[in-house]
Amino acid sequence: MNSRRSFLRLGAVGGAAAALVTPAAAAPVEPSLPPPRRDAPVVVSTWNHGLAANAAAWEALAAGGYALDAVERGVRVTEADPEVTSVGLGGWPDRDGHVTLDACVMTEAGDCGAVAFLQNVLHPVTVARMVMERTPHVMIVGEGAQQFAIEHGVPTQSLLTPAAERAWREWVASDAADTRAEINVENHDTIGMLALDADGRLCGACTTSGAAWKRHGRVGDSPLIGAGLYVDGEVGGATATGWGEAVVRACGCHLVVELMRQGHDPQEACRRAVERVIAKNPDYREIQVGFLALDVRGRAGSYCIQPGFDYALHDADGARLIDAPSRL
Ligand code: GLY
Repeated sequence: MNSRRSFLRLGAVGGAAAALVTPAAAAPVEPSLPPPRRDAPVVVSTWNHGLAANAAAWEALAAGGYALDAVERGVRVTEADPEVTSVGLGGWPDRDGHVTLDACVMTEAGDCGAVAFLQNVLHPVTVARMVMERTPHVMIVGEGAQQFAIEHGVPTQSLLTPAAERAWREWVASDAADTRAEINVENHDTIGMLALDADGRLCGACTTSGAAWKRHGRVGDSPLIGAGLYVDGEVGGATATGWGEAVVRACGCHLVVELMRQGHDPQEACRRAVERVIAKNPDYREIQVGFLALDVRGRAGSYCIQPGFDYALHDADGARLIDAPSRL
């Protein structure tokens, strides 16, 4: 991540630490489930706007609360922050000027809920939780999702702030055609949050307004269970940020969790998942993708690719396969 933005952690050890990860050789790992020892509670989230969100989640965790309540409470802070231009209120709209939202939640038991292409609702994460808890479904999208929210007493409002509308009008005036411009590296800050509570329950949430200036109706990785978020209560959880199409192609977060199941620590699991993203996306030099993982022992890890950063691929024994130039 660039110098202004990085994955952040606030946990039982207190404080926050940036976790920009440079490529490192991989050691062979024997498959095994992690031992039961736990550093909990702990909460981690993507990007520096996650600090305030982590603090809110931490309040719930420190009071002995459920990890699901913690992650919902946490990401709601970011959803309501008009300064964050890639999540909820103040999110930059699609190419037609509509703010459309994607979100999901997942619990230690494997329960999950999601909304996609949802408009005019301040807290899509809460609607995603309602889908999980009040319907037999996993995902509701578009007008149906808004109708579901209204039926369950959720108020509606415009999420297009004057600042976001100005940015959109400038983009329209610039006649730029490509939604995969530099702006989606700088602005593409999905918040994903993972929490492990004092009782060892690990839950996650993920919420975004998606890629700026995207085609109307486009849905990214964030509401897709297995892509933008995945949790297995016996192993750990992972969440993703960045160019959603690339994450979906690799089924990124499910992959991270399965790598942890095989015995890799969260850091190494994220690194290997990034390598898979690279393998599946020939345009990887132009995109930003990051994974954040937390295992049931309370260990966190993260890894990302971003234009301008060095990257080298390694095989399973840690041998360097491709030497990347110093700037991609
Ligand atoms: N990662 C968020 C998106 O691509 O929409």
